[in-house]
Amino acid sequence: MGSVIKLVVLGIIAVFAALAANFARDVAYQVNALTVLAVAIGMFLYTIKTWDIRPVSADGGPAPATGYMDDVIRAGVIATGLWGIVGFSAGVYIAFQLAFPELNWGLSFTSFGRLRPLHTSAVIFAFGGNALICTSFYVVQRTCAARLWGGNLAWFVFWGYNLFIVLAATSYVLGGSQSREYAEPAWHIDVWLTIVWLAYLAVFMGTLIKRKEPHIYVANWFFLSFIVTVAMLHVVNNLAVPVSIWGSESYSLFSGVQDAMTQWWYGHNAVGFFLTAGFLGMMYYFVPKQAGRPVYSYKLSIIHFWALIFLYIWAGPHHLHYTALPDWAQTLGMAFSIMLWMPSWGGMINGLMTLNGAWDKLRTDPVIRMLVVSVGFYGMSTFEGPMMSIKAVNSLSHYTDWTIGHVHSGALGWNGMITFGALYFLVPRLWNAKRLYSLQLVSWHFWLATIGIVLYAASMWVTGIMEGLMWREYDAQGFLVNSFADTVAAKHPMYVVRGLGGVMYLTGAAIMCFNLWQTARGRLRDEPVPVGATIAAE
Ligand code: HEM
Ligand code: HEM
Repeated sequence: MGSVIKLVVLGIIAVFAALAANFARDVAYQVNALTVLAVAIGMFLYTIKTWDIRPVSADGGPAPATGYMDDVIRAGVIATGLWGIVGFSAGVYIAFQLAFPELNWGLSFTSFGRLRPLHTSAVIFAFGGNALICTSFYVVQRTCAARLWGGNLAWFVFWGYNLFIVLAATSYVLGGSQSREYAEPAWHIDVWLTIVWLAYLAVFMGTLIKRKEPHIYVANWFFLSFIVTVAMLHVVNNLAVPVSIWGSESYSLFSGVQDAMTQWWYGHNAVGFFLTAGFLGMMYYFVPKQAGRPVYSYKLSIIHFWALIFLYIWAGPHHLHYTALPDWAQTLGMAFSIMLWMPSWGGMINGLMTLNGAWDKLRTDPVIRMLVVSVGFYGMSTFEGPMMSIKAVNSLSHYTDWTIGHVHSGALGWNGMITFGALYFLVPRLWNAKRLYSLQLVSWHFWLATIGIVLYAASMWVTGIMEGLMWREYDAQGFLVNSFADTVAAKHPMYVVRGLGGVMYLTGAAIMCFNLWQTARGRLRDEPVPVGATIAAE
């Protein structure tokens, strides 16, 4: 009976998508509609093919009702690795485009303007989002001693979310964008994401509600605050009136400075809740697990959780210093950003001090090294951010590459490294391997990534401060000394260094994918294994 309903729903979706493709007013919308059509037809055929044939308990079939639901997490781990490679490659490519503009090839779909949102969405939403979804599913099951709520709803979340990414990415390349930073997808893709996100919230909340543990572990608070807040941000920032239901154009409900404020209320909290709260959820599970130590201070985790979520939501105006935004709002944003330093460091201190009594593991365990460096970068970027939010500092840093350096010390150092650490933790456990294929390759990854980040961030700090100072240089008569083109020319060597840093980071990630793939196949590299590297039963 379930299959019949599924076939009917898929059939309706396919017909509607075909209609949408036919009536589409622009090519981006049409390609989106065709993609939905292809997916619906594919799923339709798959449902027919597997109808009543798949044995319930055979390999690859549903796990026993008492066990955890790990198939969807395995899929999420694979997607995280693949999207990571796609997103980092796009980053490297656009980095070299800035150094060598000929790489734009004169084609619209390979131009910097279209590939840049492809990069940001691929790394934040595809790589980071899949990592968050799969680790939150893993953590909530283990810490609640409960199987994911909602059965195949978790699969809907996984496929639905990845469909959203494919729709967004293809439309960017074809010029479909609503030009809101980190929220570029057109209205119809936003509607789809809202449905998927509510399903995600339902799975997560449902699992928390049916938990067998009386206590809700702190990692789950962070994951839940991330899911709830992102839902709110996404809906408010994307309130818009479509021009036609057959096209991707729409008009935002906000205009002028209110629109700018809404966008950066969203933008900053995307940093605060997507790139921070969710990843802190990961930190609170994987750091103690890998170190084999309890969280340093539970009290500190409670205090910094509430302080963080209360303060973050007010800090958005620091992106709009010296604009038409009223001065009091800019100062408010600055004040809240400075206060944010404390709860951010509360998290960093809690993460680092969890290693008390296990610091020796830094010598032997490259996975712990990765997690520790990631927490270190979190501390660095959350010191730098409050400093950049001070209006006097921002008057130098804004519009310069300093911001890009800040972004990537957080993104590559904090989000990237903690995700790598989590993947190294998960794969041997999810695929029942004795241990990782090779710890030496993890070490290679660690050093390539760390040196890559240092090259990236250092070159951007230098260019950023240099161009900021060049822009404000006056001669004795009060004329500007440098033209904009002078600053661009002066930055060229640093852009090449940044590109090379990106190549190192990407190479490290490719090594990780190879290592994890071998691990999943049960291979063990013949190398000296430090004591404790064999996976103990959970
Ligand atoms: C191989 C690694 C990477 C390279 C080479 C790279 C390169 C770049 C480049 C060249 C830009 C455009 C800068 C500009 O507009 O001037 C950019 C922007 C951006 N990237 Fe990356 N990136 C990498 C990884 C990541 C990761 C892992 C994340 C997030 C998790 C990330 C998040 C962003 C964001 C948010 C922006 C927009 C920054 C802004 O407008 O202030 N990147 N990246
Ligand atoms: C206490 C924490 C933080 C504060 C107060 C803060 C503050 C700031 C400030 C003042 C800017 C520059 C705005 C401008 O001049 O345009 C900025 C940009 C940015 N920060 Fe942070 N930051 C913090 C942490 C982080 C972390 C941990 C990440 C990433 C994981 C991050 C990602 C970004 C991004 C992506 C932008 C660029 C936005 C854009 O213009 O496209 N920030 N932040």
